[in-house]
Amino acid sequence: MDAVRDSGNAKAEPHSSVEADELNLPRLLEKRRLNIDRKSSLDERSLSELSLGGNVRNVESYDSMYSPMATTGARSGWDTPASTTPRASDPHPMVVDAWDSLRRSLVFFRGLPVGTIAAADHQSEQVLNYDQVFVRDFVPSALAFLMNGEPDIVKNFLLKTVQLQSWEKRIDRFKLGEGAMPASFKVLHDPIRKTDSLAADFGESAIGRVAPIDSGFWWIILLRAYTKSTGDISLAESPECQKGMRLVLSLCLSEGFDTFPTLLCADGCSMIDRRMGIYGYPIEIQALFFMALRCAFWMLKQDAEGKEFIERIVKRVHALSYHIRTYFWLDFQQLNVIYRYKTEEYSHTAVNKFNVIPDSIPDWLFDFMPCRGGYFIGNVSPARMDFRWFSLGNFFAILSSLSTPDQSAAIMDLLEERWEELVGDMPLKISYPAIESYEWRVVTGCDPKNTRWSYHNGGSWPGWLLHPYFHHSLSLSLSHYNQLLIAANAVLLWMLTAACIKTGRPQIARRALDLAESRLMKDGWPEYYDGKLGRFVGKQARKFQTWSIAGYLVAKMMLEDPTHVGMVSLEEDKAMKPAPKRSASWSC
Ligand code: GLC
Repeated sequence: MDAVRDSGNAKAEPHSSVEADELNLPRLLEKRRLNIDRKSSLDERSLSELSLGGNVRNVESYDSMYSPMATTGARSGWDTPASTTPRASDPHPMVVDAWDSLRRSLVFFRGLPVGTIAAADHQSEQVLNYDQVFVRDFVPSALAFLMNGEPDIVKNFLLKTVQLQSWEKRIDRFKLGEGAMPASFKVLHDPIRKTDSLAADFGESAIGRVAPIDSGFWWIILLRAYTKSTGDISLAESPECQKGMRLVLSLCLSEGFDTFPTLLCADGCSMIDRRMGIYGYPIEIQALFFMALRCAFWMLKQDAEGKEFIERIVKRVHALSYHIRTYFWLDFQQLNVIYRYKTEEYSHTAVNKFNVIPDSIPDWLFDFMPCRGGYFIGNVSPARMDFRWFSLGNFFAILSSLSTPDQSAAIMDLLEERWEELVGDMPLKISYPAIESYEWRVVTGCDPKNTRWSYHNGGSWPGWLLHPYFHHSLSLSLSHYNQLLIAANAVLLWMLTAACIKTGRPQIARRALDLAESRLMKDGWPEYYDGKLGRFVGKQARKFQTWSIAGYLVAKMMLEDPTHVGMVSLEEDKAMKPAPKRSASWSC
């Protein structure tokens, strides 16, 4: 590590952008290759090692290239040793039930476990595709197995999905990009011939025919979690996995007509896989994209092919973090700025760069925005800001360090503000608020599954608890509220837990988890809950939804052993300096 330390010290001096341009990228890369002994250490690579490379001219927001990681060689505070955590000797009955249910959802291919089905709801009449292994749904299962010292199933899954990626993918006469990963796959057993085969869905069977942009990102994120947890870098370094990463990256790093570093997406391309007005640049995908870029940076080999991608990642990560931190961030002060925006400004002196018309700010936001706290809004594009709150995007912004430490703290402040003021518990929704009436008709196309406060439209998903507003307006007592409303399912509970631990606020997650325990198992591990209060098991929710079960286990294990968070968390790279700070105190 000494050599790394040396190179870091050399960069501790601030550089001007001119100097930065003059640095010789190939030499830098070569030095980096020699300096980093990847086999002996699982330290985070610092992007600053390359932050001066190439023709990265615009370093306006990165006022220093200093990175403590590079200078001290310090290990990430969230490093996770090879996970050998045994199952607790006297586990909660719900934990036992959850493990049993999780194991019942296992899917085998030629005798080897390769994933878990989305839901093992034998009573449901409509199986649809819930008997398939979804890439995104498998992530919490995988984390649970890794934390429990059972990495083989995760390795099998990663190899199986990367094989599927190489399939030719067509929708009608149109061929999809080579790097696309499936939304889900199914193992077909032939009892007569005693053979197993696979069928995969890349969007060509999905309702709405949308390709899942998130699958490739989840795959990369999981590959890093596996590597970090087991210490086995041979899988990530295998030719299949290196190629798999490069293919995903070439899809999303390709040049086009974009003027923004964010990734342009169709509606329904993520966990929200139906039309919900998230087309454009949804925060959920941007946060996963950012995380996947940083994970790939950590795992890509310095060979002829990998090197080019590493350089592209560095440029994109810097541009992306600047863009999101600057234009997606909303707090009270910034809301006031937008409220007073002038419009129709031309040229690069414009303050209101995207020509957002203040009249498009929705009424609910003025009451919702607390003095303390802030969040990344759902979407930013020309003349359009989607001010809705999306939980996954905000939690993954924290986990990937897309948010600055101040912004991460402010996101948690926002949660606490609302929670403490009104109910003293965690208000979480998949998105907030729900869209209804005319807006619902236009935005969702009259989707009967996404009616207000149901499913993806402000529904209470696992880990999503009631928003305090409703508690306030209905004057429920706290205990009543707790009993009735904390219908925490656990898909996203693990993300909340990880974000809480990372920001030093595990008590928030602990309270949410305690409350979750009061209903989840009793209700048969539903997929989601309905209603403003989240009181009702969702009208079309599957029972024994695997990611509800696994998400609960992961949250529980993270709270027991916070070092597990290292599997899904990246430390901030100091080379990525935020845009000028708007407010230090986050107050009105
Ligand atoms: C639904 C959800 C999607 C999930 C799938 C399987 O389609 O919207 O996010 O992956 O079910 O559980």
